[in-house]
Amino acid sequence: MATIEHTRPVDEEKLMQFVFRAVDEVGAALNAALVVMGDKLGLYRALADGAHVSPAELADRAGIAERYAREWLNAQAAGGYVDYHPDTCRYSLPAENAVALTDASSPAYLAGFFEIALGSVLDSPKIIEVAKSGAGFGWGEHHPHVHNGCESFFRAGYNANLLSSWLPSLDGVVEKLEQGARVADIGCGHGASTILMATAFPNSTFVGSDYHDGSIATARQRAEEAGVADRATFEIAPAATHPGGDYDLVTMFDCLHDMGDPVGAARRVRELLAPDGTWMIVEPNAGDRVEDNLNPVGRTYYSFSTLLCTPASLSQEVGLALGAQAGEARIHDVVESGGLTRFRRAAETPFNLVFEAKL
Ligand SMILES: C[S@@+](CC[C@H](N)C(=O)[O-])C[C@H]1O[C@@H](n2cnc3c(N)ncnc32)[C@H](O)[C@@H]1O
Repeated sequence: MATIEHTRPVDEEKLMQFVFRAVDEVGAALNAALVVMGDKLGLYRALADGAHVSPAELADRAGIAERYAREWLNAQAAGGYVDYHPDTCRYSLPAENAVALTDASSPAYLAGFFEIALGSVLDSPKIIEVAKSGAGFGWGEHHPHVHNGCESFFRAGYNANLLSSWLPSLDGVVEKLEQGARVADIGCGHGASTILMATAFPNSTFVGSDYHDGSIATARQRAEEAGVADRATFEIAPAATHPGGDYDLVTMFDCLHDMGDPVGAARRVRELLAPDGTWMIVEPNAGDRVEDNLNPVGRTYYSFSTLLCTPASLSQEVGLALGAQAGEARIHDVVESGGLTRFRRAAETPFNLVFEAKL
């Protein structure tokens, strides 16, 4: 390996600070796999009652080998995910962590966030290859952890915000949905948002679409399971050819920036909307300038964007590659270029911006 000559003066203390910070980050990167392991093996659920357990007891509760339970518990204790009690050599899961790691209905549920992170890391060798040529990598080509983690993570946010604040922030939309509206949910993935809306508004009809056939097969299955398949149907279609028209509401949840041709998608939305229809665009929360996004949320989204969103867009025609941290000004520009004239920020959370666009 070539030796690099360092000609700039190096502050040894700052170097060691960086090295120790990096050790913590390697531990955090590995923790993504350990959290998914804890979720898939039911280890967090076995700890959710707050009992102080030995590794053998956890192994017994979850039906796994004691030696793995012990090592996993120690890693979790070192990371502050579980508490260790040295006087009894037992471990327990704090109540708050139990909510975030086991309660899929909670807005704080995080297991899916780790699963999408793990899937992204597993696929990273392929991204290293396409980065050399500038080629793309399609959403459907990813490990199933990406698709399942995305569904699980985003669903928690939609459960927390969609019915209570995002839809009410749009002008007159809830009233239309209650009376019976026609809705297109474009780029719907596994249909978490479509099914939530279909469950809440039985008088309305919903057509979800996505260009990934595997996601649409899962969405159809989820709609059957939720008992809403009569009013929530799903089509394999890129945004540019979403079927039908005269929609009162078109929604796009965390997907506009993934599309190769978001301006083309906006043009299609203009054709799909009824004259007084509304386009709701949910995008990751981001400021317009790089320096606005240099924080933990921005770091996470720029990382997902490098491994998932940017390659997905580059794999499609046009390949605009907005990136997950596009920001309001760039999204406004896309919407305007698609021919819609009215645009405003309707709501926001720490993770998302919600925009309303109209003809
Ligand atoms: C981050 S996922 C979000 C999925 C879903 N909206 C949700 O909130 O769970 C992005 C989705 O955009 C879809 N997508 C990307 N490009 C698309 C296109 N041109 N037309 C339709 N869907 C697209 C992907 O297949 C993927 O399901």
